[in-house]
Amino acid sequence: MKFEDFADCEQTDLFEKPVRFFTQLHSTKNTGGEALGIQLMQAVRPTSYMKEKDGKIAPYIMLGSNSYLNLTTHPQVVEGARKALEKYGYGMGAVSLYGGITDLHRELEERIAAFYHAEDAVLFPSGYGTNIGTICALCSPGDVIINDSANHASIFDGCKLSGADIKIYPHGKIKYLEQVLAKIPAHVKGRLIITDGVFSMHGDMAKLDEIYALAQKYGARLMVDDAHGLGIVGPTGRGTAEHFNLLGKIDLNVGMLSKVPGAIGGYCATTKEVAQYLRIYARTYFFSTAVPAPVVGGLIEVFKLLEADQAGRTQLWQNITYLRTELQKRGFNIGSSESGIVPIIVGDEPKLIQFVNDLRAHGVYVNIVTYPAVRRKECRVRLCVMKELTKEDLDKALAVITEQGKKYGII
Ligand SMILES: Cc1ncc(COP(=O)(O)O)c(C=O)c1O
Repeated sequence: MKFEDFADCEQTDLFEKPVRFFTQLHSTKNTGGEALGIQLMQAVRPTSYMKEKDGKIAPYIMLGSNSYLNLTTHPQVVEGARKALEKYGYGMGAVSLYGGITDLHRELEERIAAFYHAEDAVLFPSGYGTNIGTICALCSPGDVIINDSANHASIFDGCKLSGADIKIYPHGKIKYLEQVLAKIPAHVKGRLIITDGVFSMHGDMAKLDEIYALAQKYGARLMVDDAHGLGIVGPTGRGTAEHFNLLGKIDLNVGMLSKVPGAIGGYCATTKEVAQYLRIYARTYFFSTAVPAPVVGGLIEVFKLLEADQAGRTQLWQNITYLRTELQKRGFNIGSSESGIVPIIVGDEPKLIQFVNDLRAHGVYVNIVTYPAVRRKECRVRLCVMKELTKEDLDKALAVITEQGKKYGII
């Protein structure tokens, strides 16, 4: 049985689906459940100590973390968090507008705004909630939102919740985006194009120059979720907008503080009017407790490093290029990755599960990606590259991936 069979099945009691799902997950081997729930026993590092379900603790070469620049353990960042912890305590005790933010929160918002050449930025408690809150605050029934099919789930959830008319174009196919835009009736003025900057399951970049030109041509606002672009792409690491020379021109530059910044939270860099509006009308901001000050203290140091482009992008890119080149040389299909996310497309779910289990058994930790994150026939392993991985780490991982890839006929 597949995951969606459980979500869609009829039931007599609300707990019937979870009980049937749980029983199935634990009754057979190789359901994919084996790959879930492994626990970190120390900070995430190139070699991470993790606890298996059977209680065994073992070292893994970490190719499954979004802490691409290892900022979670950067001494300057940890020190910033420690100082804020001592001064403000570990939690906020209130939502932002009810006394839940500190001077540090405002400093972070100002730094983020300046980083994107925007007038202001709003700091949300979670990345997921940033998309939901921003979309729902701005869009309502009667408006049209146009999405790339590979946009993140939080974007689609926000679109659904907003009640706006949702249009979807095939991933990266700008010709279809234009067809959708051209068909919007003239009287519909509320138009929003949303795209990931770097796509989280593919690792490729949106063609933002073309999308921006179409937004201008058809009078649409443009929102970019650059969760996986921040700190990695663009001449100084300011993300997809910078890569396409569009800094300061994106209406809603959204990003997550959970990937390169290695913490939690999200932000929307935009105009001063929109930012102030979001603070009142984005329900995931208004009704949710603010990011704890120690995290904000760490994030301020993260942005100091990013502003100066001193967070280690060059080292990260050396690793990305090496891994990508070596995988391609060995015959793996890595799609059109151009970021820290390198997929290995497998396209056969049972094979994928066995492949990932064997990588794990040989000490390599990767993410398994299948439906609903991608279509089942495009299921894949997702490798996330980290700056601090050494060539020796990468060579060891490559040897295991190659051996198992041959065993399962993936190459
Ligand atoms: C593109 C994208 N947007 C939004 C999110 C949600 O961010 P967070 O995990 O910080 O809530 C993620 C991460 O899961 C993501 O990859």
